[in-house]
Amino acid sequence: MLSLGVNVDHVATLREARKIDYPDPVQAAVVCELAGASSIVAHLREDRRHAKERDIQLIKEVIHIKFNLEMALSEEIIDIALRIKPDQVTLVPERREEVTTEGGLDVVNVKNKLQEVIPRLKDKGIEVSLFIDPISSQVETSKELEADSIELHTGRYANTTGPDRKEEQEKLREMSVLAHQLGLKVHAGHGLNYWNVQPIAQLPHLEELNIGHSIIARAVFVGLERAVKEMLALMNPACR
Ligand code: PXP
Repeated sequence: MLSLGVNVDHVATLREARKIDYPDPVQAAVVCELAGASSIVAHLREDRRHAKERDIQLIKEVIHIKFNLEMALSEEIIDIALRIKPDQVTLVPERREEVTTEGGLDVVNVKNKLQEVIPRLKDKGIEVSLFIDPISSQVETSKELEADSIELHTGRYANTTGPDRKEEQEKLREMSVLAHQLGLKVHAGHGLNYWNVQPIAQLPHLEELNIGHSIIARAVFVGLERAVKEMLALMNPACR
């Protein structure tokens, strides 16, 4: 069965729109766990525009499923991760002016920094996933760096149509096969929703999808439990 990691950042975004104490991403994490999610994802950004350190700490304490902390290569956030010890860290690029994470981490370009950071995280028992574009040099370098998994960036797939989308789907398929051959676990995410998830869910060797915005958006109308269950049913038709 394909695992679903639910990113609860957008619950925190709603809270931060008013700078008050609700809705709480920690409560959302518990509901997602009860609805069948396999992991909870939260991105602690340097500018704290959505999740805060308090959210990260509490999510880690209250959930019984995997906690996947998304973060950039920032010393401040690395120190927080080493202290809180999520089950997994997903290393992503971060630009202050972006609306959401645009493009994968260029692991070829930041190889030296990753060579120093990945062992520090793994020494604390934290699994390391690298969020990369579906490019062979990125997959091969992830293997050299001894990452546990890669998360293939599906943003271009989500934002294109017709032949461009087909071409991107094929790249994702090829990179999933390559990563699996190299012994890396394969995850994918970004921009996936109730209309575009199924072809991605069928990629070979895929173990996990990480989805945030579309699930939280649907939850406004149908409730979070149902939104999670509907996504799980689309990802795993056999379980419907
Ligand atoms: N995976 C990663 C690494 C991300 O950075 C994000 C966005 O925070 C997601 C998955 C989820 O993307 P979306 O909110 O578009 O579903």
